[in-house]
Amino acid sequence: MRYLYQLADSLAELTVVASYCSPGIKIRRKLFSDSDMDVDMTDRVVIVTGANSGLGRATCQELGRRNATVVLACRNPESGERAAAELREEFPKATFHLELVDLADRTSLRQFISRIQSTYKALDVLVNNAGVLLPKRSETADGIETTFATNVLSGFILTEHLMPLLAASGSGRVINVTSGGMYTQRYQVDDPEFRDGSFDGVRAYAQTKRAQVILTELWAEKIRATETSVTVNCMHPGWAATPGVRKSLPGFYNALQSILRTPEEGADTIAWLAISSAAPAFNGQLFFDRAVRRTHVFPRTRISNTARARLWNYCAERSD
Ligand SMILES: NC(=O)c1ccc[n+]([C@@H]2O[C@H](COP(=O)([O-])OP(=O)(O)OC[C@H]3O[C@@H](n4cnc5c(N)ncnc54)[C@H](OP(=O)(O)O)[C@@H]3O)[C@@H](O)[C@H]2O)c1
Repeated sequence: MRYLYQLADSLAELTVVASYCSPGIKIRRKLFSDSDMDVDMTDRVVIVTGANSGLGRATCQELGRRNATVVLACRNPESGERAAAELREEFPKATFHLELVDLADRTSLRQFISRIQSTYKALDVLVNNAGVLLPKRSETADGIETTFATNVLSGFILTEHLMPLLAASGSGRVINVTSGGMYTQRYQVDDPEFRDGSFDGVRAYAQTKRAQVILTELWAEKIRATETSVTVNCMHPGWAATPGVRKSLPGFYNALQSILRTPEEGADTIAWLAISSAAPAFNGQLFFDRAVRRTHVFPRTRISNTARARLWNYCAERSD
């Protein structure tokens, strides 16, 4: 029977729409082993960026269900407070701290990191979930293109600066939320901030999501070399009906609304990577629906190790 579901999984992957939408996870659920999610997370500290909305919010519910201490890293005080209050009411045994941070603002990010460092002795999980898809090119107060600053640089900076806390937990986990859209893109190493004058928001978004996959692999390589007991993996959620998708891709949202994943279905693999006792066996991998997936469909999207190292250095030079 399991073989039949595996076959269905492979066939579903070929039909991108069904696979990425709700039918995909409904088929694959038959392959999930939920016993590895039977975990009590009392005293485990998890940071979720973009926790007030969509997939971040749904991830917090799974963590709350298991009594975790969750730091909701949000930029909007009203929706952040609302999410924290609702989560506290729904999961009274869990702890939810709202931390306001604009991830695209270097000063705000620096202050957030220092608050985390002074509050917690160890960090069990960092979920780099916040992301944007913007219609026009814009720059942050620090002069960084906003899509790159939010989707790539903030996660890099958080991972780098919080690595000692993650290591202190004994088995820290970093989860980068990327997108299946990255399959279409080759990372443009000569123009990471889209300065060439032909900004296309969807392409820029997919490129930053490709960059997250590359950085995930590089983090894992570096960690292996130092024998630190931290894992860094990424996942893509398929296509889920979230406020972000509704706002940034209204035509897409309306066309597929009836079959899009729920935020809970989209967040399932984030939660699995954060919670499951099976997840620490993996490092540097891309996941979709709780399974390791290939990172390239088209050979043209591959770049050299030198180009990959340039992406790393580009982020490192901007992460003080
Ligand atoms: N939904 C999907 O189908 C899908 C598919 C592929 C990948 N993803 C990825 O999944 C992640 C979550 O997206 P979503 O669909 O749940 O969208 P969403 O509902 O728009 O959530 C995105 C979150 O990121 C936060 N955020 C954006 N910029 C920020 C900043 N500068 N500082 C702090 N927080 C910031 C948003 O805060 P505000 O509420 O203040 O804007 C929001 O909480 C993203 O990385 C997205 O690329 C989603």
